[in-house]
Amino acid sequence: MDFEKSSTSPSEQTVNSSRCVDQPEYDGRSHTIALGFSESSGKPAQMPIQLLDHADSVRRAVAPGIALKHKSALGQFMTPAPVARFMASLFPPSSLQRCTLLDAGAGVGALTCAFLDRWAIRDGFSFDRVGVEAYEIDPILRGYLEDALASYAERLPVGSQVFSEDFIEAAALQSFAGLRYTHAILNPPYKKINSLSQHRLILRQVGIETVNLYSAFVALALSLMKPGGQLVAIIPRSFCNGPYYRPFREYVLHRAALRHLHLFDSRTKAFKDDDVLQENVIMRLECGGVQGTVTVSNSTDDSLSDLVTHEQPFDRIVFPDDSEKFIHVPTSLGRNALELCEGVRFTLPDLALGISTGPVVDFRLREHIQEQPGKGTVPLLYPGHFSGYTTQWPKDGIKRGNAINLNSDTRKWLYPNGFYTVVRRFSSKEETRRVVASVVRPDTFPGAPMLGFENHLNVFHEDKHGLSEALAYGLAVFLNTAAVDDNFRRFNGHTQVNATDLRFMKYPDRETLIALGAWARSQATLTQAMTDYQTKKLTK
Ligand SMILES: C[S@@+](CC[C@H](N)C(=O)[O-])C[C@H]1O[C@@H](n2cnc3c(N)ncnc32)[C@H](O)[C@@H]1O
Repeated sequence: MDFEKSSTSPSEQTVNSSRCVDQPEYDGRSHTIALGFSESSGKPAQMPIQLLDHADSVRRAVAPGIALKHKSALGQFMTPAPVARFMASLFPPSSLQRCTLLDAGAGVGALTCAFLDRWAIRDGFSFDRVGVEAYEIDPILRGYLEDALASYAERLPVGSQVFSEDFIEAAALQSFAGLRYTHAILNPPYKKINSLSQHRLILRQVGIETVNLYSAFVALALSLMKPGGQLVAIIPRSFCNGPYYRPFREYVLHRAALRHLHLFDSRTKAFKDDDVLQENVIMRLECGGVQGTVTVSNSTDDSLSDLVTHEQPFDRIVFPDDSEKFIHVPTSLGRNALELCEGVRFTLPDLALGISTGPVVDFRLREHIQEQPGKGTVPLLYPGHFSGYTTQWPKDGIKRGNAINLNSDTRKWLYPNGFYTVVRRFSSKEETRRVVASVVRPDTFPGAPMLGFENHLNVFHEDKHGLSEALAYGLAVFLNTAAVDDNFRRFNGHTQVNATDLRFMKYPDRETLIALGAWARSQATLTQAMTDYQTKKLTK
């Protein structure tokens, strides 16, 4: 491959008057660059070239001018310089002579700049030459990217190819044409892939089943890497759990060893300039590597000033018996209280218990929902009806209503009246707990044959019927422990609590849950401390 600077669409390199952003004047050369390339040795010399800060000022100037619609259509959330530098620092030292770097969805090139800057100061990379392949579909950003790469090429043995093509289409075709990259550094676009879209079909053809552009980019990049190739990517944490990302987790863990995971503790801070509210992780994967311990680090924000790093055995990240392959991010060296309890090792299927998302989707059954209970109706339960272990029903001010007509259209969405444990599916960001469990008691609804559970609740049941009273309370008490909440946060970065997450979490056996429930029923009040203490006592 010839790594002289080229582009698949040279015409698009020219700055044209139809640019949709307010652009800074960037000639690619006007900034101060210390010459870093020694002609004689072919290696970077004393005065290193460092262009990341320049790319960062371009990012800050360009990003606010991009129309929001355009930004979310293309997933354009650019990496701030400290994060880019940190990502580049995660690559292990390399004695390779030739590096082939992929930057897919390269934006203005922050990540490539961070990588090349590291090489320029000879920080662990012995490459004689670096070939960059960058993909960027936005012609405006691509202009800046090409300028930045040209600046490097003037001073370092860097060859670059900037592709204007869609990376998914290009990579899916290339995947039949051999492995090419030794390194990849990615902040891919984040956007759902519709099930019938062209992207979905192309991906399926190369064996990648996934639901978002970011996971597609990572999977494709991996498929193009040489054995031992190193990939560092910053992506939303949503792939760590949930059924939709299971094929992606399997794809990645099958092809690569997970070497490093970094978590930003604050969901607002990693991309604060862009108002990104996702929790993000950075991961380093080694293509074809043998899985060993994983370096886990975390920091509050993108300044990385309070960076904490620890080594974790892989079985703390992905539990050996977890068929869902959830990826946990332990934030401390010590084991979570739940992990220390040997008795807590059963999934709901192991316990022959079911969990469902509340089957009543209120907007679909709107004509059957009543504000107040009346003749021919049964109770309809929303999260707003629960507070701690108490249920207030009927309740004024509940969004759509307190009751649902019992008839042939609704019956199939209803459960027989009984004891159930419910967990709300959404918590607000401000709420201290993610997992909030309550108990439904049949005597709250005397005479009601059936109950409706609205879609914002998760319902624990036994074959779509109620539980015993003690089991319902035992489950709720267990779910309300600090240990469960802490454990849950290790694999779930958003405020949503999915039925799948609860289904495959680990619980004590039935007897212990029933004993916990019986204990709870004998207490006049239940505090967090009591709940935590008793659960620990019964499960160790
Ligand atoms: C999240 S931004 C990151 C930009 C850059 N990597 C950074 O870290 O600042 C993702 C970039 O991917 C580009 N992009 C979106 N879809 C793409 C596609 N299908 N192929 C190539 N690039 C794409 C967007 O225009 C955007 O610049």
